[in-house]
Amino acid sequence: MERMAVVLAAGLGKRMKSKRHKVLHPVCGKPMLGHVLDVAAEAGCGRTIVIVGHGADAVRSYVGDRAECVLQAEQLGTGHAVLQAGELIGGEEGTTVVICGDTPLIRPETIRAMLEEHERAGAAATMLTAVVPDPAGLGRVIRGKDGRVERIVEHRDCTPDELRITEINAGTYCFDNRKLFEALGKVKNDNAQGEYYLTDVIGILHDAGETIAAYRTPDPAEAAGVNDRIALAEAERLMRERINRRHMEAGVTIIDPQTTYIDAGVEIGADTVIWPGTILRGRTVIGEDCVVGPQADITDSVIGRGVTVRHSVLLEAEVGDGCTIGPYAHLRPGSKLAAGCRIGDFVELKNAKLGEGTKVPHLSYVGDAIVGRDVNFGCGAITVNYDGYNKSVTEIGDRAFIGSNVNLIAPVKIGEDAYVVAGSTITHDVKPNDMAIARERQINKEGYAEKLRARARAKKERLSRGEGSGES
Ligand code: UD1
Ligand code: CA
Repeated sequence: MERMAVVLAAGLGKRMKSKRHKVLHPVCGKPMLGHVLDVAAEAGCGRTIVIVGHGADAVRSYVGDRAECVLQAEQLGTGHAVLQAGELIGGEEGTTVVICGDTPLIRPETIRAMLEEHERAGAAATMLTAVVPDPAGLGRVIRGKDGRVERIVEHRDCTPDELRITEINAGTYCFDNRKLFEALGKVKNDNAQGEYYLTDVIGILHDAGETIAAYRTPDPAEAAGVNDRIALAEAERLMRERINRRHMEAGVTIIDPQTTYIDAGVEIGADTVIWPGTILRGRTVIGEDCVVGPQADITDSVIGRGVTVRHSVLLEAEVGDGCTIGPYAHLRPGSKLAAGCRIGDFVELKNAKLGEGTKVPHLSYVGDAIVGRDVNFGCGAITVNYDGYNKSVTEIGDRAFIGSNVNLIAPVKIGEDAYVVAGSTITHDVKPNDMAIARERQINKEGYAEKLRARARAKKERLSRGEGSGES
C-alpha cells in the first residue's frame, strides 16, 4: 500500500519574530523542515507534499525536488491546510502521515511504530500523544471509558475539567488516506479560533464508528513544536544531545558533550577524540583515529584518518591522512592537503594544493598555490598572490626549500629541489636544483652602534628641554 506524507508549513510563525520562515530556522545546522522531510523519507513515505503559504517562495526553493509543494493561500487552520493536498492525493488508496513542519525532534522510529500500530489495529487514524507536565496551549486527548481516543479538544475550547488532562496531541498522525479526505470535508470552523482544525477529523472518524489508535511516545520532546526562539534553543540542545550520543555509541570519544556542537549531517570515524569547544558543521566528514580540538571550528570539510586539528578554523578544506593542523591555523576554501602535511601556528591557506609531507609550520600565507611533496616553508614565508586586481598562481616543485620570510611574487614557479634563501623576494622563476637569493648584501660598520646611541640620546635631551628636534 502506498505511503504518503503531508507536512504542514504554511503558518506564519509570528512568535519567532523573524524575517526567515519558521520551518527554515536550522536546528543543529539543518532547517526544521529538513529534519521532518528526512523523517518522512526514512519512515518509507514515497510521496511527500509540503503545504506552503507564508514565505512560500523560500520554503519551495528549500524543498526543491525532495517533495511536492501545494499553496495554502489563506491560513484557515491545520485541517484546511491538509485539505489543500486533496487535489494531488485525495483519491489515492493508502496511508498518509501528517507531520507539522515545526516538530524537528520527531524520530523515524516513532513514525514507524505508529504505522505498525495503525496497521495492527486496522485504524482509520492513529495519533501520536505524549504526557507532558505543562500542556498549556496544546490540544488535549479525550479518551472514553474503554480508554480509546474519542476526540481532541484544543486548549482554547477546553472545559475546566479537560484543561486538567495532561495527555496532549503531538500533531503527528497516520490516516487512511481516503477516510482522511472524506472527513476533512466535514470539518467546520465553529470554535474559539474560527479555524478548520485537523484535530476535528479524529472526532468525526470516531463518531462514524471508525477505530482511532494512539501511540504514546515516552519522549515528550518529540511532540515539541518550536514556536519561539526559546523553544528553538531547547530543540537545538535536545538534538545536540541526540547527535552526540549517536557518535559516542558509534565509537567516537567526546570529552565534554556539553560543549561539543556537531551538526546533523556530520560523519566521524571510530576512535576519534573530540575535545571541548569544538564545532563541526555542515557536511563535514572526519576519519578514524583523529584528535579534533580543543576549539576546532570545521565546516564542510573532509578530514582523513589520524589527523590532529587543534584551535583552528577550517572551511571547505580537504585534509589527508596523518596531517597535523594548528594550533591557530586557518584553512580556507580550496585548501587540499595530501597525507602527512604539517600546518602550524598562524598559518593561512587558501585555494592551495599541498603534496604529501609538505610543511608550513609557522606564520605563513599560502594562497592560489600548487605545491609539490616534501616542500618546507620557513617561518613567515608567503605567497604574494594579489596585485589589487588579479589573483596569480605560485607553483612549487617537490622537495623545494623556501627560506624564512621569503616573498614569492606570483605568478612564479620554483623548480624541484630548488633552494630559496631566507629573506628573498622572488619575482622570477627558479629552475630545479638552483639556489635563488634576492636581497641586499649585508654591510657591517665597525663601532657604529655607540655612535647611533649617542645621537639618539642627544635628540631625547633636546626635546625634553623644549628645543624641538632640529629636524623637519
Ligand atoms: C496543533 C494542534 C494541537 C497540537 C499541537 C502540537 C490543531 C488544530 N492543533 O496546534 O492539537 O497539540 O499542534 O504542536 O491542529 N499550519 C498551516 N496552515 C494553517 C495553520 C497551521 O500550514 O492554516 C501549520 C503551521 O505552519 C505549523 C502547523 O501547521 O507548522 C501547526 O500549526 P500551529 O498553529 O502551530 O498549531 P498549534 O496551535 O501548535
Ligand atoms: Ca505548533
